[in-house]
Amino acid sequence: IYENQEIASAYVANRIASVIVTKQEQGQKAILGLATGSTPKGVYKELVRLHKYEGLSFQNVVTFNLDEYYPMHPVEEQSYVSFMKSNLFNYIDIPKQNIHIPDGTLSMEAIHAYCDLYEKKIADFGGLDMQLLGIGRTGHIGFNEPGSGDCSKTRLVTLNDLTREDASGDFGGKEKVPAQAITMGIQTITQAKEIILMALSQRKAEIIQKALKGAISADIPATYLQKLAHVEYILDKAAASLLD
Ligand code: F6R
Repeated sequence: IYENQEIASAYVANRIASVIVTKQEQGQKAILGLATGSTPKGVYKELVRLHKYEGLSFQNVVTFNLDEYYPMHPVEEQSYVSFMKSNLFNYIDIPKQNIHIPDGTLSMEAIHAYCDLYEKKIADFGGLDMQLLGIGRTGHIGFNEPGSGDCSKTRLVTLNDLTREDASGDFGGKEKVPAQAITMGIQTITQAKEIILMALSQRKAEIIQKALKGAISADIPATYLQKLAHVEYILDKAAASLLD
């Protein structure tokens, strides 16, 4: 539990940087699972600063984003491709071919094979070294909404009503938020070697209490993480305010 968002974000950025540097020293690639949304913005800002002023290189970094709306064209302002570019990728030296974000332009028929391939690509790199997560107010991680199974893999999902409402500001109305998304599954996420779940602000206090203290259940997919030893929850004081 950190005093404020800036300190929590700097801590997470430093954890990611240390994975990158350790892998670099071993002559290996760092395979990172990344999230979008308001929560990791401060982390990405700090990573950009570390690149610009402290020599952190992303040449050996490979990234896999958790999710993308469906349908969604990458050039749209609300796409997670645009988000990643404007918050991180445009300002660092990551090779373009190392970036993976689910494709929101596929035909329905092509999605299944594409999702299998996304899983295979992660596996071919030896799995995710670190997965960064936010949490939605439904308890989703990635876009694994209530009802998601703990063995789920990358797939097309339907977004929960509350999730669409929370995204309505970005789209100018809930009805304009895509009804579906492509997301890594719970199993894809939990197989990462290390997991960092971040939650910032009072808005997340209630779901954080349920995710950390509630019974493990598909009703709140983030509770699946309780079973794992390799998860760190990074909270600011406000998000932690309902934990005793
Ligand atoms: C984003 C993602 C989502 C968000 C969650 C919280 O890639 O997978 O699970 O992390 O919806 O969003 P914010 O941070 O905007 O509150």
